[in-house]
Amino acid sequence: MSEEHDMAAAPRPGQAFGIDIGGTGIKGAIVHVASGQLATERKRILTPHPATPHAVAAVVGQLVADAQWKGLIGATFPAVIKHGIAQSAANVDHAWVGTDADKVFTDAVGAGSDVIVLNDADAAGIAESRFGAAKGVDGVVIMLTFGTGIGSALLMNGVLVPNTELGHLELDGHDAETRAAASVRDEHGMSYRKWAGRVSSYMQHVERLFTPDLFVVGGGVSKNADKWVPLLELNTPVEPAQLLNDAGIVGAAIAAVERLGE
Ligand code: BGC
Repeated sequence: MSEEHDMAAAPRPGQAFGIDIGGTGIKGAIVHVASGQLATERKRILTPHPATPHAVAAVVGQLVADAQWKGLIGATFPAVIKHGIAQSAANVDHAWVGTDADKVFTDAVGAGSDVIVLNDADAAGIAESRFGAAKGVDGVVIMLTFGTGIGSALLMNGVLVPNTELGHLELDGHDAETRAAASVRDEHGMSYRKWAGRVSSYMQHVERLFTPDLFVVGGGVSKNADKWVPLLELNTPVEPAQLLNDAGIVGAAIAAVERLGE
C-alpha cells in the first residue's frame, strides 16, 4: 500500500462520511462535522434497479472505497429506520422491510468503519437545525420534505423525535403524499398554485396537530420556494430549507458522530 493511500485511510478527526440514499441517486461526501461544510466534492452514483439491500450496499461500499474513507459513516434511507432496522418501504424495494440496514452497510464498507442509518427527512431536519433554516430556533420545528413522497422531521429545541412519518397522514381520504408530494405536481403537470393549495391543506392539518413554532420545507422543490411558499395559508412561519442538495449528507454525518462518538 502506498504512503499516500495510508494517509488517506487514516481516521480524520472532526470529520465523518455522509451518504444520502434516494430513489434516483446515491450521493456521498466527507463532512466537517463542526461546520457542516463538505470536505470533499459530492460523488453521485445512480441508484440500482431493483434497489435491493444487496445492490444498494454495493454502491455504498463503492462510494466509501472511492473516497478512501475509514471511520464513522452516516447514511440516510427513505423509510422508517428503528435502531438500524428498516420497518417500512413506501417508495423503496419491499425487500428492505426487516433488513438490518446498519449491519448490511457496515459489512459492505469493510473493517475500520461503522455505519448508522437513519430516515432521510430526519437527517435533513438535523442538518437544518444545526446549520440551516432552523438554526438556533427554540421550541417545536417541523421539517417537511416534498419529493417522490413527503418526509418529516420533528425537533424540539434541536432534539429529534425520529420516524414521525407525517407524510402518511390522511388528507381528503387519501395518504397525504399521494396528493401533495412534489412528484404528484410533476406527474400531473399541475400549476404551483394548484399544488400549493393541496400543500396548504396538508400543512394546516399538521399545524392543527402540533402547533409548531416553525415549518422548514425541503426537497428538490425548495429550490423554487418563491413560487409556492408565499401561497401557503398558515399561521406558522415557513422557511425554505437552506442546505438543499447537501442536507441529507450533512445530517447523516452529524448523526453518525452524535450516535457513535468520535
Ligand atoms: C417514507 C418516509 C420518507 C419519505 C421521504 C415516505 O414515503 O415513508 O420514510 O422519509 O417518503 O423520502
